[in-house]
Amino acid sequence: MVENLMEKLVALCKRRGFIYPGSEIYGGLANTYDYGPAGTELLRNIRNLWWETFVHRRDDIVGLDASLISHHKIWEASGHVAGFADAMVDCKHCRSRFRADHIIEDWIAETTDTYLKQWGSHKQAEEEISKEIEKRKWVNLSVKDVKEAFTTGKVEGWSNEKMDEFIEKANEFIKKAPIQCPNCHHTEWTKVRKFNLLFPVQLGIVEGEQGQGYLRGETAQMIFINFRNVVDSTRLKLPFGIAQLGKSFRNEITPGNSIFRTIEFEQGELEYFFDPDTHDWQKLFESWKQFMLQFVIEKLGIQKEHLRWRTHTDEERSFYSKRTEDLEYNYPFGFKELWGLAYRTDYDLTQHMNFSKKDLTWTDPVSGKKFVPHVIEPAVGINRLLLMVLLDAYHEEEKRVVLKLHPKLAPYKVAVFPLLANKKNLVAKAKEIYKDLRQEFMTAFDDRGNIGKRYLAQDEIGTPWCVTVDFQTLENETVTVRDRDTTKQERLKIADLRAYFKQKLL
Ligand code: GAP
Repeated sequence: MVENLMEKLVALCKRRGFIYPGSEIYGGLANTYDYGPAGTELLRNIRNLWWETFVHRRDDIVGLDASLISHHKIWEASGHVAGFADAMVDCKHCRSRFRADHIIEDWIAETTDTYLKQWGSHKQAEEEISKEIEKRKWVNLSVKDVKEAFTTGKVEGWSNEKMDEFIEKANEFIKKAPIQCPNCHHTEWTKVRKFNLLFPVQLGIVEGEQGQGYLRGETAQMIFINFRNVVDSTRLKLPFGIAQLGKSFRNEITPGNSIFRTIEFEQGELEYFFDPDTHDWQKLFESWKQFMLQFVIEKLGIQKEHLRWRTHTDEERSFYSKRTEDLEYNYPFGFKELWGLAYRTDYDLTQHMNFSKKDLTWTDPVSGKKFVPHVIEPAVGINRLLLMVLLDAYHEEEKRVVLKLHPKLAPYKVAVFPLLANKKNLVAKAKEIYKDLRQEFMTAFDDRGNIGKRYLAQDEIGTPWCVTVDFQTLENETVTVRDRDTTKQERLKIADLRAYFKQKLL
């Protein structure tokens, strides 16, 4: 089930209007996706819940909505122009291009799996792997590097030379098999090289540096460059946060996995500014970890055992961060980053002060102390949240596929049906109820096919309640309400429906 869960979900998403491949009628455009009617509602519900939780319900966080196109100096100051690059490698046979770290990490995962099967326990497997590693002599790789790679499963941040050596010598490791191209299975690779992820845009008619801008590669920088504006136009006191929801763009190569990694995606980011002399960053870091986890489990309804925290290794961690931890979700293709939490120190504000020559310091209103605030950043991809929500909600039962979405997230809260489509008075009554409920809840109306098929269609988009108008309705103003998860029905008065659903959605 797990192996083809992704395929089944992708098919359901297309069939039921959650996610379509981008530019499909022109043959598609790699790593882009469009959201259909159900997907758009789900995306909005997640986005709204994030905003409500991280901005509206907190008195220490305000919002920002900055431009997508931005000055090239922002990205020079932030370090993205020089250092925001992924390691790429091409298959010499079919010319497919891959992230070098990803093909190595996939190979390590397979190798470790094989070894675990052979040795039964992690400890035994680790000992055997260590023995094999100790025998080797490498030029760029140390034994420590390789051991760490096998224990963490991560090589992100390795130099090109280290990755080249690993790819070249993979067949000397335990699995005794070279790294194959996932596309054509050949094993000859080009050298690993870095590829900058920023999307340059040429503005107006001015050629050269003056006309050069960038689509933002993260929403975070837009918060830093507006720090002075926000401070001067509000009455905030440290510690406080500035949050932003919006699109970011990265020219990434991805191995598929639907919307997990795309070149255009939406981020929910927040920069929490504080004085490191009065606030212990480790305590703040821990409290953000709890707040993020609570959101995922309680608000999005995700099962706790599908989540874990992972600390970035020194090499993987971005240069600006003193500590980074990822909240990971167990996707069908393994535990992967859902939400990053980083202590970015005063790096960004200091860089922008140096580059712009503008004052981005904070002056304490009581002591008069002037300093550059430090920052902790929780940064999540809204599309990644959506993929996780769909996967976690997907259930196959004997006779149906059902998305057990948290009712607050469901694209439609209620669906209304007339029992029979050819009875005018049933249809008229159902339409009347539908129109009334739609004033308050996202409501669907369906009179196609038989009632069983209508239930199945609503189950597949996760509609929590279906209301059916039958002959009894015409006699006593009651309807049946069917619960998606239990499939049980109860009879309620039409006059009580709004209050009933409202209470359920609290
Ligand atoms: N400001 C820090 C930052 O952008 P990141 O780890 O590169 O850090 C934060 O991105 C989050 O944005 C990730 O945890 C992930 O959820 C999401 N994200 C990053 N790149 C993405 C992509 N290409 N497609 C979809 N989501 C992405």
